[in-house]
Amino acid sequence: MMTRKPSQTFRTSQLEAADGPGRNPTDSRTMGEIIAARFSRRGFLQGSLATTAIAATVGRTAFDAAPAAAQTSGSAFSFPEVTAGVDADHHVAEGYDADVLLRWGDPLFPDAPAFDPDNQSEQSQERQFGYNNDFVGYIPIDGSSEHGILVVNHEYTNEHLMFPGVVTKADQELAEGDAELSIAPADAWRVGVEMAAHGGTVVEIRKDSGKWQVVLDGARNRRITARTPMEITGPAAGHARLQTAADPAGTRVLGTVNNCAGGVTPWGTYIMAEENFHGYFLGVLPEGQAEAGNYDRYGVPGGSYEWGNFETRFDLAQEPNEPNRFGWIVEVDVEDPTSTPKKRTALGRFKHEGAQNIVAPGGQVVMYLGDDERFDYVYKFVTAGTYDEADRAANMDLLDDGTLYVARFDEDGSVTWMPLTFGEGPLTAENGFESQADVLIETRRAADLLGATPMDRPEDIEPNGTNGRVYVMLTNNTKRDEANAANPRPENAFGHIIEIAEEGGDFAATTGTWEILVQCGDPSIAEVGATFSTETTENGWFGMPDNCAVDADGRLWVTTDGNSASATGRTDGVWAVDTEGEARGTSRLFYRVPVGAEMCGPQPTPDMATFFVAVQHPGDGGDDWEGFGRPSYYEDLSTRWPDFDEALPVRPSVVAITKQGGGRIG
Ligand code: FEO
Ligand code: CA
Ligand code: CA
Repeated sequence: MMTRKPSQTFRTSQLEAADGPGRNPTDSRTMGEIIAARFSRRGFLQGSLATTAIAATVGRTAFDAAPAAAQTSGSAFSFPEVTAGVDADHHVAEGYDADVLLRWGDPLFPDAPAFDPDNQSEQSQERQFGYNNDFVGYIPIDGSSEHGILVVNHEYTNEHLMFPGVVTKADQELAEGDAELSIAPADAWRVGVEMAAHGGTVVEIRKDSGKWQVVLDGARNRRITARTPMEITGPAAGHARLQTAADPAGTRVLGTVNNCAGGVTPWGTYIMAEENFHGYFLGVLPEGQAEAGNYDRYGVPGGSYEWGNFETRFDLAQEPNEPNRFGWIVEVDVEDPTSTPKKRTALGRFKHEGAQNIVAPGGQVVMYLGDDERFDYVYKFVTAGTYDEADRAANMDLLDDGTLYVARFDEDGSVTWMPLTFGEGPLTAENGFESQADVLIETRRAADLLGATPMDRPEDIEPNGTNGRVYVMLTNNTKRDEANAANPRPENAFGHIIEIAEEGGDFAATTGTWEILVQCGDPSIAEVGATFSTETTENGWFGMPDNCAVDADGRLWVTTDGNSASATGRTDGVWAVDTEGEARGTSRLFYRVPVGAEMCGPQPTPDMATFFVAVQHPGDGGDDWEGFGRPSYYEDLSTRWPDFDEALPVRPSVVAITKQGGGRIG
């Protein structure tokens, strides 16, 4: 997610926002200057005009494709590349359609009210598609690639975009370069809408005559919000540190927040990862409270939201244990819309990015987990039990029992997965751990003690069943002073992708090897140190890898968060990245988002005929683009975004990409 600042203000500098929450206050030095010189406003505007001249758009006429690029030798991809650039529209490769399927506020039930930005309420939002869609999963119904359940995370809310009238600073000040938006204090009504706009959506969809439709009366349709009752399961369930006034048993919690990436299990459940949970808490921990060190390691209280002024559990002074009930992996049984989602504590507590998973040769389910903070770690969880394809019920609690590992990447190219198991190594009473529950509640501190490798913000991690490898997105870290082998660039503004080969191709293995697939950024700037293949065009490189997908053919697709006019001269998008043979390290642009958005999803259907992507916070931030800085989608649109068109993904949206005439994507 882009960084939330303390309530009342929202800084819109994209480079800073894209760099995420961090705890090391060291200022970046020269990379910002290098980037600024390359993508200066003047230089950028000239470039963008050139781009605009040749760019057609999805919504209006045709498609935005680069002049037919020569086919990269040995590439697994053959689509014509999109031209990188910045404008208010989205663009997909020539020969493809990109259709908005679901937007923030769209009805999910027959009785849901129509979207009305001037009359929002918690009750209507609970029946509509939520805000800031990040993870998108597709669960086939009866194996179909044309009829299934779409599961979508709603990570966080942008009040300055959602609510007309909440921005209090004069537009003139924004136009003059003061990028600090002031937002009116929340009230109970607004907090209710915000909480209902968080969480997730479960919705049936069907492809009719080649176009995807929402099935409004789908029996499984459901909204999950920051107030949905959930059960806490696994080793930390019921522990005293999870007990609160409202839940003295420590086994039942209301809601889930900041669900970033996620996953779908082999048995068809929906996994929601709780990422920046610290931002939802405010207040001061009572003097002498034992959780002070724990909360400091997680940045609690972050104070990004004002919920604690209206709901006491989010105020540390009134409910000191509530933060221990967030930062977990949540599992949802989508087959029963009345089922109670479960917070699976066995998978650890941190700023969970995603939960992509695979069945190992031995039958264990292996879930890869990133902790998205500068200098935090890469994890995986291996179930104790094995997956039973013939018995769904037998798999439903597999995630309650297993081993959580954290990664150490060594200079010799080896990776060691170190178990976070109470009683082993330093994870003992001597270091303040009395049980496995303690190890899980303070996963980060346990991993610190094991000597895990501090990474450049681990985002999505995806195993590839066709080649036995694992792809780790490391989005950026401009606060890094000292490189290590797996994070080789100090002041890493553009991130990199690591490829892990697990020992013997066994995803449950505790050792493996690793190498860097690509260091991101503009290869034409030597100081950046990007390592895309030389076949990669000027449109093909990207910065800030975030979400990713491995498709049915084993091909890697990467989406980004943080590209912008000033950072990279391009919006975020979906890039196809070759991993095999001579083309390895070649990247090409498939789709790009409207200005200000980040690109999430992506999710192919099993038949590869549809590619779902999620456009998150379009129009946000960006004092580096004409027409930006508007305080809401719904105020003064004529002056702030003359091209505003509800048929385009100008609200947070899931977009379905299909090939014209049918066929496989790519
Ligand atoms: Fe929500 Fe780490 O991105
Ligand atoms: Ca993101
Ligand atoms: Ca992310």
